[in-house]
Order: sequence, then structure tokens, then C-alpha cells
Amino acid sequence: MPDNNYSSLPLNTWYVAANVEEFEVHNVIGRRIAGRPIVLWRSAEGNVHAFEDSCPHRKAPLSMGEVIADKGLRCPYHGFTFAGDGRCNGVPGQEKVPTQWRTNPYPVIERYNCIWIWLGDPSRARDESSIPAFMEFGIEPYNVRSGLIPVDADYRLLVDNLLDPTHAEFVHRTSFGSSDLSAAQGPARSESRPQEEFESTIEEDKISFVYRLINSRGGPCFRKAYSMREGELSDKDNIDYIMHVEWQPPGLFSYCIDLNSADSTDGNHLRLVNLHILTPETEQKTHYFYRCSVLNDGGQDSILDYWHEIDRMAFNEDKAIAEGQQRNIGDQDLFADRSLWARGSDQMNLGGRRILQRMS
Ligand code: FES
Ligand SMILES: [Fe+2]
Repeated sequence: MPDNNYSSLPLNTWYVAANVEEFEVHNVIGRRIAGRPIVLWRSAEGNVHAFEDSCPHRKAPLSMGEVIADKGLRCPYHGFTFAGDGRCNGVPGQEKVPTQWRTNPYPVIERYNCIWIWLGDPSRARDESSIPAFMEFGIEPYNVRSGLIPVDADYRLLVDNLLDPTHAEFVHRTSFGSSDLSAAQGPARSESRPQEEFESTIEEDKISFVYRLINSRGGPCFRKAYSMREGELSDKDNIDYIMHVEWQPPGLFSYCIDLNSADSTDGNHLRLVNLHILTPETEQKTHYFYRCSVLNDGGQDSILDYWHEIDRMAFNEDKAIAEGQQRNIGDQDLFADRSLWARGSDQMNLGGRRILQRMS
């Protein structure tokens, strides 16, 4: 395996290398992950394998090759073929296949419609049960919109972002429409003002938080999504907005937003769901996979398309900020200067950075 020095990137973890749907278009995918050039390929039998993207003969990128039935992955240069275990099983023009022409496969798992790869010490590859069973992974594919956004920024800047709800008011004005806090300050029933609560739990190896905005306008996009299920809302109709967020480091985030009529106890909430999956490409680039879903939509399928559109806008707003930060940061270690983390509400970001530092 290559010995590039990407010292800050955790390796002993399962990373999402690809969405399974990507193999419907190509059965060979070249992708750099945590600094390593990787080729992912699906065999004629349907199994996904991962190798270093470099032929052991003369270093041609195997991702430019193709899959051959009964053989495996064929190098684009001289046509050597490689089985899923990395063994060379064919050299055009000669019968003997020297054993040195082999490549080491990386452990891969196909689970939850994702291809997961383990780049670290294979003997430490943890059982697939270490992949968190987020509720979102169980949603039927027809109810999921997924995608991959390339971001020219350190994945840790996106972790900071997703652990920092205070940015929404400023970054997401054109997508989510206004901050939840601003929404809380908007017109509401005079007899009861909106009630806002925030709780975070910073543990040794993960962080979660809950944000509740009870009896509020709810922010324009959330209000619109809710009205798509309920019909037009009047000025007097307020909603309860409850957001649960879980982060499983290094890069898995579950965001779950429940919307319901203010003070309702019927449990009939509209649930807007996002899964953010950050896979470092290098120390300064990230593969930002996402999935969004809408549950309990009352048969209004169009809410999912609306939510997907809003999400795409919001994720690209975050991308623009992170890439701008990265241009200013360059090779500096942002976490080395603790004065940059001194805001009162930077606690979750500090907790997150400490967890990532322990993992790297
Ligand atoms: S470089 Fe791959 S077969 Fe020669
Ligand atoms: Fe954001």
C-alpha cells in the first residue's frame, strides 16, 4: 500500500467509498480516499472489491481498466487481469503468471446501499457492526434522494459546520430561509411566545444535540414543507420544530427534524431526514455524500423533491464557506490556535476536534 503521509486522517475506521447506485453507471470507479488512490470495482458475480489504483506491473491506473467475466479487473495497459483477492490470474502472451504481480485488496463491505472501505491495519478492521445503525439507513431506497458533492476543503471544516447550528442564520438565508432563532422571534400567537431549548451531549467518542423550537413560525422552508402535507397554514397556525442530531466520528451525521402543529401530542409529525457522510479525499478535499428523506408525508411525495432541492442549496452554501476557509487556511492547523475557538458557543466544535485528534 502507498506510504503517503496524511497523518491527520484517521485510517482505522470504515469510510463510505461510494454509493451503491454509482455502480449502475460504471462498474469500475477510481477515487482517492484519505490520500490513497483506490480503484473500486464490481465483479461479474456482483461482489465489490477495492485495490490500490496502480497496476503492480508498471503502475497504470487500474481504474482505467474494465471488468472481464471469469477473470476480474483488467489493466488498461498490457491487459493483466486480477481476481478479487488481488492475485494476477492472466498475462496476455504468456502462460506463467509470476506471483509478484499481485495487489493487496482493501477490506470492503456493502451495507446500507453504501460501499464501505477500511484503509487502516487490516488486522484491526472492526466488525461491520461498528457502522452505526442510523435510522436513515433503514429507509426504503424509493424514499431516498442521494448524491455526492465534491468539496475542496478539509472534512474537519465540514464537521465543524455540522456541529455548529449557529451558522444557519447567516449561511442558509436562501435555503432554509431564516435562522430558527429568527423564526422564533417572528409573529406568534400572542398568548404564548415560542419556546427554545438546546441540549448537547459531548461524550468520549461521539456528540449529539437536540434543538427544540416550540410554538413558532418554524422558518419558511419548514413551514412550507409542513403546509404541503397539511394544506395552507393561517397566520395563527404555529408549529413545533424538534431537531435531533447525532455525530459518529469521523464523518457520519444523522439530522432528523420533526414538525408538528404547535402543542400537538398526536405524534403525527412530518419527519425531514438528512444523512451527511463525510469521507476525506485528502487533507484538503472531501467527498460529501448525502441522503435525504421525508417520512410520514401523508402521501405527498412532492415534499421529498422539495426537501431535496432545499438541501442541495443548503449543502452548497456550506461548501462555499468551507472552500473559502480552506483557501485562507492552506496548510495551517486551525486547531493549533485555540484563540480561534474561544466563542461561548464553540464548545461542541472544540469537543469534536478533540475527538478527531484522538482518532488520528
Ligand atoms: S501496467 Fe498493468 S499490465 Fe502493464
Ligand atoms: Fe449548514
